[in-house]
Amino acid sequence: MDIDPSRLVQPDRVHKRVYTDPAIYELEMDRLFGRAWLYVGHESQVPKPGDYFTTRLGREPMVMLRHTDGSVQVLYNRCAHKGARIVPEGSGSVGKFMRCLYHGWAYHCDGTLLSVPLRSGYEDTALDLQAPQFSVRKAARVASYRGFVFASLAADGPDLETFLGGVATSLDNFCDRAPDGEVEVAGGVQRVIQRNNWKIFFENLHDTLHAVATHESSWRAAKEEYESMPPGTPKPFEIVIVDGNGEPLEFWEKLELKGYDRGHGYMEGIFTPPTDPVSLAYVAALKDKQGEARADQILRVNRHNTIVYPSCSPHTSFQQIRVIRPLAVDRTLVEIFTFRLKGAPDATFQRALKYTNVVNSPSSNVMPDDLEAYNRVQEGLGSDGGDWVSLHRAAGREQPIEGGRASNGNSEMPMRNMFQAWAGYMRDAGEAS
Ligand code: FES
Repeated sequence: MDIDPSRLVQPDRVHKRVYTDPAIYELEMDRLFGRAWLYVGHESQVPKPGDYFTTRLGREPMVMLRHTDGSVQVLYNRCAHKGARIVPEGSGSVGKFMRCLYHGWAYHCDGTLLSVPLRSGYEDTALDLQAPQFSVRKAARVASYRGFVFASLAADGPDLETFLGGVATSLDNFCDRAPDGEVEVAGGVQRVIQRNNWKIFFENLHDTLHAVATHESSWRAAKEEYESMPPGTPKPFEIVIVDGNGEPLEFWEKLELKGYDRGHGYMEGIFTPPTDPVSLAYVAALKDKQGEARADQILRVNRHNTIVYPSCSPHTSFQQIRVIRPLAVDRTLVEIFTFRLKGAPDATFQRALKYTNVVNSPSSNVMPDDLEAYNRVQEGLGSDGGDWVSLHRAAGREQPIEGGRASNGNSEMPMRNMFQAWAGYMRDAGEAS
């Protein structure tokens, strides 16, 4: 299929087909998800040799596996014999090697063929057991940034650090906030299948204008709940988080949005320094390990959602990563992982879990508001009521920064920035990869 991205993506609007056309979705799988670095998982999810975790990169079923030499491997979850998935969905341990359940071909944890039953049956045949095509195929490129594992299904392209550009600092701060300088996945995973195109979710991450309208029922309920408490009651964390969506538009306007090349970005300036006992104990632990000056430097990084386009969104301040997996043009899987800051009090981790449960869980008071909005957008775009989606808000007002652009908090710059990258990937030459 030949498409001309410039006919679909213009500086301040995009055509609805980018969200609704199955043929464009298939092209995205080849040209965007088949080329970009995609987040796979965190090394702490496979701590011991033989540990595995399955996921999906683009349309490919993949498995992240700890090899017996300690390295982290990312393989296609497909047996080299007749194609069966080798490890079951989810996570666990394969032991010392992988063994396919169908005919028993066995593989080392780096995917190389270990043994086949009835080896004599292959003598004098064209099947060469040493040849790479009879091992499990690896992702073309795999790299880890401070424990966050990414893979690219394309052999060529920029290295991971170059790809991350300006948002590498979000992953740095994610880890630096741990008194011991490292993080680990803990507390399981929350999974949501959304009835919308994957790009609608990404756009919402930096869409500050929606908060006061979409979340009115939850922020009003939180405000009323607090007003019913005895005067002078310290505001509970859950209420601080939920009623924050009711801040006036002037509040959001003052935030800073950064958009970097390749579609990445983050939102800054949203949180005021907390004074609750859980936060103070955490800050004390960080200062104890890192020293006052370094701790202050780390905590000055004040970020809400970061976009690592097109596969994940780390939240630096509350230690979660949302992993975005397109399933179809109108179906998107979002998996939410919460992390423990090594060396921090347990209450810090419990607060991170609380944030996930209160804001991002499918059964929270907040996330269903968003899911309803996304679904209405998807359904509306499928109608004949119009062809174009407006991205005009504060168009042309962004300021250049190193490797990207900056805007105030209510701008639609992040959406325009993502579509600029999208159009680059979707062009045949693939210069954005
Ligand atoms: Fe895996 Fe036959 S399909 S051993």
